[in-house]
Amino acid sequence: MGKEVDLGLRKFIKELGCMAAGTAVLSSMPWLNSCTPDKLKEVRRERKARVALIGTGSRGCYHLVNLRGIGHAEVVALCDIYPENLARAREMFPRATPYADYRKLLEDKNIDGVIIATPLGTHARITLDSLSAGKHVFCEKAMALTMDECKAVYDAYVRQGKALYYCMQRMYDEKYIKGFSLIASGELGEVVGMRCHWFRNADWRRPVPSPELERQINWRLYRESSGGLMTELASHQLEVCTLVTGKMPVEVSGFGDIIYWKDGREVYDSCSLVYRFSDGRLINYQTLISNKFNGMEDQILCSRGTVDLSKGVYYLEDDHTVNGMRQLLNQIRDGIFAAVPVAGPSWRPEVKGEYVPHAILESPVSVNGGQNMTGVENDGSLEILSAFCQSCITGAKAPNLVEEAYCSTMLCLLGNEAMEKREVTAFPDRYRIPYMKF
Ligand SMILES: NC(=O)c1ccc[n+]([C@@H]2O[C@H](COP(=O)([O-])OP(=O)(O)OC[C@H]3O[C@@H](n4cnc5c(N)ncnc54)[C@H](O)[C@@H]3O)[C@@H](O)[C@H]2O)c1
Repeated sequence: MGKEVDLGLRKFIKELGCMAAGTAVLSSMPWLNSCTPDKLKEVRRERKARVALIGTGSRGCYHLVNLRGIGHAEVVALCDIYPENLARAREMFPRATPYADYRKLLEDKNIDGVIIATPLGTHARITLDSLSAGKHVFCEKAMALTMDECKAVYDAYVRQGKALYYCMQRMYDEKYIKGFSLIASGELGEVVGMRCHWFRNADWRRPVPSPELERQINWRLYRESSGGLMTELASHQLEVCTLVTGKMPVEVSGFGDIIYWKDGREVYDSCSLVYRFSDGRLINYQTLISNKFNGMEDQILCSRGTVDLSKGVYYLEDDHTVNGMRQLLNQIRDGIFAAVPVAGPSWRPEVKGEYVPHAILESPVSVNGGQNMTGVENDGSLEILSAFCQSCITGAKAPNLVEEAYCSTMLCLLGNEAMEKREVTAFPDRYRIPYMKF
């Protein structure tokens, strides 16, 4: 049995549940309710979840490393169409049965749940087949490559009684959970906007041993298998925006182009979009993979402060007054500006002030700079996988997870459509689900 790897989050959730305000927090994040140390103890008395991994590439192997530490899980089968990747995974779990065809794996009645870490273009088909075979499913984000596929998976999930998880690890990341509750408490005023971005400087290419494998290995770069930066990166961040507002934007417009990595890829390497909610609030979203200066940030702008969920800090608007004045005086003293731009009677400089960061959590947080393609430590990925393995034993679904994955994937795909058409694009009525509020 592995060591108790995800007790930190479970203790945190248990403590939240014991506090009056915490109960309200948990009722707004119901997928966390079963993640407690007591539930884990109860589950461990039963048996281990027998899970299989489909797609033993880089993210799949990252999940295998995490599975080694999840004491209530046993990896019983591995599947990949690419023998080199399957062989690498078998070194970690030599007793697991290897498969080259996932449909054969699904015939094994001893498997409770499958973890799907294959390219996006295959997510819907493998998920639908796995649910039909009576398996619980944990699938990597995003949900699917097209809106029709997303709807088909959602409908199948509603029809069938199996647990379905999407790896949107921010929903299990302590600093995000605490940040969501800080925003919901109203302490920082109203949410007035969202500003999220992800900047990297990397081409996304992988070495290919022979040319006929190009599209298989570099699947991220081609439209038949990938939604590009939107589904690969923005999906995590747009999901944060729908969680914070409890709403879906009604329309989106934006631009996307291939501006730097002109290497035969089909997906954009630069995107900038604006999503608009019915009440006028906006999400400003930008992603670029040829300059990493701005890193990755999920900023929630509130009328009395700003929360940067990715760093686990918040800034108060009012802290600015003293610092701003000091900064202004220093700048005049040092002759930095001949004329200092000020915002009318408030006498504040309109250059970005020196805000003081306040920590959301008392304990140190791990910050994802955004460069790593496979995964980082302590970002909630282990905890969500542990919750899935628990569901493989109890059979319990995780409330709201599929719905949130549906909302965020739809927003990514809608963004791609808007950039393609270069038109303001409204969310289509036929893809609405009861969970969505506009
Ligand atoms: N949640 C996160 O933070 C995060 C991080 C990285 C990747 N991902 C997601 O994980 C998924 C995989 O990404 P990756 O970087 O590991 O890709 P990868 O190319 O490294 O791995 C994909 C693997 O799937 C295999 N495969 C393809 N089709 C298959 C099929 N029909 N049956 C079985 N195996 C098949 C490939 O051979 C490959 O080994 C993607 O959906 C990606 O978006 C999520």
